[in-house]
Amino acid sequence: MQVLHTVAELRAALAGQTGTAFVPTMGNLHAGHVSLVELARQHGQPVVASIFVNPLQFGAGEDFERYPRTLDADCARLATAGCDIVFAPAVSELYPVPQSFTVQPAASLTQDLDGAFRPGHFSGVATVVLKLFNLVQPRVAVFGKKDYQQLLVIRELVRQFNLPIEIVAGDTLREADGLAMSSRNGYLDTSERIQATLLQRELAAIRAAVLSGERDFETLTTTACRHLKMAGWRVDYVELRDAENLQVPTPVSQQLVVLGAAWLGKTRLIDNLDFALPTRA
Ligand code: PAJ
Repeated sequence: MQVLHTVAELRAALAGQTGTAFVPTMGNLHAGHVSLVELARQHGQPVVASIFVNPLQFGAGEDFERYPRTLDADCARLATAGCDIVFAPAVSELYPVPQSFTVQPAASLTQDLDGAFRPGHFSGVATVVLKLFNLVQPRVAVFGKKDYQQLLVIRELVRQFNLPIEIVAGDTLREADGLAMSSRNGYLDTSERIQATLLQRELAAIRAAVLSGERDFETLTTTACRHLKMAGWRVDYVELRDAENLQVPTPVSQQLVVLGAAWLGKTRLIDNLDFALPTRA
């Protein structure tokens, strides 16, 4: 496995490749990331993973500085997972001048859900992903459903800029107790870690209620928020949406997704569950 730090090295290593499969990450890799690399291997070669903590997608007061940087351990995991090339540029390599040209996704995506609580976040994500796509020029790129709204932003980026890249979605990997794996789980203390499964349990309760015929979505999400608040969480949102476009579900919606974001102490956790509604006879 090659570990490359400069744009020039990356371009040289990938010259002439037409079947590249790409997994962008911010590092501090866990089994969820590894599953995306394994999925990428089924879709193309060489497999390229990027490790870059992107300052553009962090807001003021967010965790850019304290985000864990664990390059050596990450490379060991990637080598075992069958990654061929790791691209781990410095901030000054990817942003040699201040990035004054940026991608601004539609307000319908950026002012809703996570976008509403993290101004500028999806613009920062779309901008760095477009840059990485231009550098790697993959045939396929793999993203996790864990960041469901991000996945839709990237799908729309590819569609609207006519990028010849297939976007493949990977399922969310979870710990044994159901907590979605996340680099940010490392911020949790012992009691918060025990408490952390509640978000996922509340989302699962909403899914179960909807699948058993409940259609009062407002009451379901409000109840989940109340349970989380009673347990000491600060809730950003719990919402039930159409999984195709993240709009409020309509009577014809077939695929739904229940999404939540909430704070346990100083740690913000997000999770979601997507599911199909049973087709009516
Ligand atoms: P990061 O948070 O490192 O996530 C990298 C990829 O791993 C994303 O596609 C994310 O959805 C996926 N992922 C995270 N947790 C997962 C889990 N438990 N199971 C499966 N996949 C999981 O998302 C980013 O980085 C950045 O925003 C990035 C796209 C790299 C742009 O900077």
